[in-house]
Amino acid sequence: MKDIKLALVGFGNVAQGFVQILAQDGERYARDYGLCFHINAIADPLKGTLFAPDGVPPAELLAAMATPGGLSSLPYDHPTWDALEMIQISPVDAVVELSYTNLQTGEPATTYISEALSRKKHVVTTNKGPIALHYDTLTQLARVHEVKLGVEGTVMSGTPTLRMGMHCMLPAGVTRVQGILNGTTNYILTQMESGMSYADALAEAQAQGYAEADPTGDVEGFDAAAKVAILTRLVLGASLPLEQVERQGITGVTVADIEQAKAAHMHWKLIGSAEITPDGVKASVKPVCLPDSHPLARVSGATNAITFSTAYLGDVTLIGPGAGRLQTGMAVIEDLIEIFKSQ
Ligand code: HSE
Repeated sequence: MKDIKLALVGFGNVAQGFVQILAQDGERYARDYGLCFHINAIADPLKGTLFAPDGVPPAELLAAMATPGGLSSLPYDHPTWDALEMIQISPVDAVVELSYTNLQTGEPATTYISEALSRKKHVVTTNKGPIALHYDTLTQLARVHEVKLGVEGTVMSGTPTLRMGMHCMLPAGVTRVQGILNGTTNYILTQMESGMSYADALAEAQAQGYAEADPTGDVEGFDAAAKVAILTRLVLGASLPLEQVERQGITGVTVADIEQAKAAHMHWKLIGSAEITPDGVKASVKPVCLPDSHPLARVSGATNAITFSTAYLGDVTLIGPGAGRLQTGMAVIEDLIEIFKSQ
């Protein structure tokens, strides 16, 4: 049995989803993979800090979060460290980076990830900013320091999109990726088809934990554009600056547009795509009205989908959750198992 010590940067929705899965299924992972994951350190600017050399049982962490005292009610050390100091000081095997997403600079997450990799700690992140903007630099850093960087949760949460794209589809020659890559907007568009207002649907998406801290990133297409840039780099093998993804969100799609589409058996979807053309990569995020017969038309709610167009297999479509605390927490588990099963 391998004991794996973890430090969590951020203790929000995704981190708590990850901890909940460990509480429910940690023993199964130990049995099936010989890997026992321990939460040893936490730093979150709002929820507090924690350090426990022998780890904190996941169920204890969850129970504490349901009390007014939160993490501080637990009988462990509560150091005054910030995330960077925790990464520098805490003796862990891997850092799980789940701080907020910044698609302009990728900070502070990029600094956290760089610091952890430079200190020979593996990193798992679901944070799109650093991966859309600095993937090459970060993977090079990981290589130099002989550690791994897991990024599965940056696209379609725990649905194994990047793993499938990079390991299974790449050999078949991927020429285009196209899909519904944002859970919040697909949820809003689906609810609007059932008569809910835009504002109520957005509020529900926020309550379900699908939306970003600032939902502008979702509804204006920035989040999907970051995923398109990540897919372009990891699955199409081309670099694409984020600003070169043509972008239009869903705020211009009206109830009248949706009603009109419905009458014609069509559905509005926010479609992200990237394609290799003789003139380079063409990438976009925009609302598209799809006929009922299109494979992406009936993908509803927070569910996402991606079609890989390939030279040897034709089109292969993967449908699965695109957001949510357990669904994204699952991506962290997948990456941790992948990293440590081979160590
Ligand atoms: N806000 C994102 C979404 C979360 O709605 O898809 C998952 O990346």
